[in-house]
Amino acid sequence: MKKDLRKAIIAGNWKMNKTPNETKELIAQMKPLVQTNGCEVLLCVPFVDLCPALKTAEGSNIKIGAENCHFEKSGAFTGEISADMLKEMGVEYVIIGHSERRQYFGETDETVNKRATAAINAGLKAIICVGETLTQREQGITSELISMQTKIALLGLSEEQLKNVVIAYEPVWAIGTGKTATAEEAEEVCAHIRNVVKGLYGEKAANALTIQYGGSMNAKNAAELLSKEDIDGGLIGGASLKAEDFSVIVKAAANG
Ligand code: PGA
Repeated sequence: MKKDLRKAIIAGNWKMNKTPNETKELIAQMKPLVQTNGCEVLLCVPFVDLCPALKTAEGSNIKIGAENCHFEKSGAFTGEISADMLKEMGVEYVIIGHSERRQYFGETDETVNKRATAAINAGLKAIICVGETLTQREQGITSELISMQTKIALLGLSEEQLKNVVIAYEPVWAIGTGKTATAEEAEEVCAHIRNVVKGLYGEKAANALTIQYGGSMNAKNAAELLSKEDIDGGLIGGASLKAEDFSVIVKAAANG
């Protein structure tokens, strides 16, 4: 099966939740529950939680990621964090272009490309988010939109650099709404993303790319979503704030 060619990754996206102390508590709770060799386990946390998260996760299989980074190396960008700063701390992954950043913070396909490039050049792995709104889905332009977001995000990246990219398909209408895409709907778009990547980089690179689904993935629906051929993992918001629920999703990925 082609699925065996790629890494399954279950990533939590904590968004703007948990203080540093709460971070220590939650990760300590999760550590014994998510031990596995069957998939990679990652928690993407707010910038101020990175330090306690890295410390608490030390010696476990939990990897730590950030939720954003700036595309410049350094300079007069008050309030921003560079990819080099994250790398030096021991952060491994960074989420780029989450729909909340696109919606509330003026993120565009072009800045997603710049941030992903900066992250990879700094030695980080980038989880690049793509996804359509409900209106776009109803207009029947989902595949065109996803093609465009994917192609622009990857502009200028080599096949070698693609090895440090994960793409997360997150339909905007499914994020935090409790409305999940059906496993078939999610698979259709994830397969489409792989096809777009195949067109850009060839079959081998496309088959090696980890593609996640995100949007109300939870302990109940994870196994079905993760059983699909082109869904290699999940980007999980709400359910990653509960140790039990998150561990059920990790187990579903490890067994799938
Ligand atoms: P959700 O969020 O699981 O709470 O829908 C997913 C995400 O935004 O990454």
